[in-house]
This record gives sequence, C-alpha cells and structure tokens, in this order.
Amino acid sequence: MKRIVCLISGRGSNLESILRTAEAERWEAEVPARVVAVISNRGDAAGLGHAATRGVPATVIEHQRFASREAFDAGLAAAIDAHAPDVVVLAGFMRVLGASFVARYTGRLINIHPSLLPVFPGLATHRQALAAGVRVHGATVHFVSNEVDGGAIIAQAAIGVLPDDSEETLAARVLQREHMLLPRCVRWLCEGRIELVNGRVAVRNLPPDALALVG
Ligand code: GAR
Repeated sequence: MKRIVCLISGRGSNLESILRTAEAERWEAEVPARVVAVISNRGDAAGLGHAATRGVPATVIEHQRFASREAFDAGLAAAIDAHAPDVVVLAGFMRVLGASFVARYTGRLINIHPSLLPVFPGLATHRQALAAGVRVHGATVHFVSNEVDGGAIIAQAAIGVLPDDSEETLAARVLQREHMLLPRCVRWLCEGRIELVNGRVAVRNLPPDALALVG
C-alpha cells in the first residue's frame, strides 16, 4: 500500500479532488494507495473539513509558531515522516520549502501550480496570464526542486483564454482542469508509471498523450 500525505494551506479543493477520485477509483484495492494524512500550515484552512468528511487524519503545523523557516521545515518534516509516506503532495500548499526539506523528499514530492510552467511562477498566475495576453493557459503538476514552482514537469492541462475572461472565470476553468490533473498524477506516481530519474521524468506504461490534457 502506497502511503500519500497531502499538504494544504487553504480551500483544499485539490485535496478534495484526490480524496474523491481515490474513493471513486477504489485506490485502496486497485493501486493500491491511500491518503494517510493531511497536514495544513494554517488552522483555519477550509480544506481540513474535507479531510474530516472523508475520515482522513489531519494535523495543523502552524508556520507562525516557528522561529525560522528552517525550524518550520524541520517540524513539518517530522509530522510528515510520522506517516512514513511514499508520496507527498503539495495540494495548494503556499509556503516555500527549504533545500534540505526538498532534498529529503526528492522524487516523492509533487506540486500543482495554476499556470503552464515555466511561465507565470509565483502568485496571481491568472492575472499574470491576462496581463501577458496569452491565448492558452492552464495548470502544471511537477516534481518539487529548489526553485520556487520549478522542477521536472510531470503533466500539464491547457485551456483556451477567451476574450472576455476575467481572473475569476479563468481561475475557475483552470481549477476544473487541476482537479482532473492532480489525482491522475498522484495515482501514476503511486503506480510507478512516472519517476524522477536524473532530474527528468521517466514514464512507463502510459499512453503517449496522457501527460498533456488539452482542451
Ligand atoms: C490551486 O489553484 C493551486 O494550483 C494553487 O493554489 C490553489 C489552491 O487551491 N497552488 C499554487 O499556487 C502553488 N504555487 P485549493 O486549496 O482549492 O486546492
């Protein structure tokens, strides 16, 4: 049984998409894999409710309670390691993690980001996309490296930008794609179909177009 730990900071809709998909696709029997814990760096994260609804143990490790970034990373790593995870998912986790944290989980730590990386890293990605006037936008799931929103790209989902799109309408359509993309990537990682090898993503037993969701 592959053990998954999800890290969140807020709304938790991506977490919910993983939990919902895991139930619908019977991951415990079929993969096999299970989300064993949810950890939030904020006590008021709405996503904690999704964990409770699905009976997944949740912990809060508030970054404000730590004197330094290094101390927070160490506290977070201890909380994660208590669950002996095979896969750690940053599912809307909004803290930058230090090099030793990233190194500890190399190859088993993935993130979802609401842009077609490497464009528009950081915050306000939909605003960045509208300001740049791009016609195609989307979401990326990638292995985490030391670079913020960097690291080897696993899969991307693209949508067209419409002339009358606002940040909100764009965010809503990208989020729908995120909810398809992230659970698939988590499942594939658990199944050993994707792997980080020498800084690149190696793919096994997946259709050639599986990693690019377009339209
Ligand atoms: C999602 O759009 C996710 O891609 C983004 O935060 C949102 C969290 O929503 N993550 C990042 O920007 C990471 N750089 P959620 O809490 O409803 O899943």
